[in-house]
Amino acid sequence: MTIPVITIDGPSGSGKGTIGQMIARHLKWHYLDSGALYRVLTLQALKAQVDLHDEHHLAAMALHLPVRFVDSATHHRIFLHHHDVTESIRSEEVSRATSILAASPLIRTNLLARQRALALAPGLVTDGRDMGTVVFPKAKVKFFFIASAAERAERRYKQLQQLGVGANYEAILTELEARDLRDQTRPVAPLKPAPDAHILDTSGLSIDVVFQYVLEKITL
Ligand code: DC
Repeated sequence: MTIPVITIDGPSGSGKGTIGQMIARHLKWHYLDSGALYRVLTLQALKAQVDLHDEHHLAAMALHLPVRFVDSATHHRIFLHHHDVTESIRSEEVSRATSILAASPLIRTNLLARQRALALAPGLVTDGRDMGTVVFPKAKVKFFFIASAAERAERRYKQLQQLGVGANYEAILTELEARDLRDQTRPVAPLKPAPDAHILDTSGLSIDVVFQYVLEKITL
């Protein structure tokens, strides 16, 4: 039996994570935040003081990454070993390092099986950069969100404030633009829409409006 998959790709702060979780809850499907996998690997590497350019070492770590996603009706928590790292993987330090590490083809390859194994019945909603193009090219419905850099930086700023993480808007905007550029120009699995993706600019749109738009496109 083929497990139905819905993918939402797009840059940081485009709203894909919020909407992905809402859709997964609505459908009672599994949810995978693929960026979290890359972030957890980065956090583990930073803690172990592994050189972020040591592709082979990091790729080996990726194969056995002790990450767990724990979902409840209201929460989505992420664990590295037994530590809840849901908040710590969102720090600017981890964000910056993750975009360097995510450019490695070897690391990406070693995370592929991990991501595909999470396509479990009754279905999977997943968000990231290459979910519709590389990881799940046969996904049933694909979305690609875009939004202006200023608005995405603003959202990130508010998100970090809510998490109690110190934040500076200008620094976030500069970092976000640098990361976008790295994600879009890397040779392997660059950030780009799948040819069959629904493209939506979420700038100025409320979460409810985006949620309704996505629901209408999902015909199962
Ligand atoms: O979506 P995010 O901001 O949590 O992603 C963190 C980093 O991981 C970002 O630099 C892009 C990278 N990433 C990726 O290369 N491929 C994915 N499928 C998901 C995230």
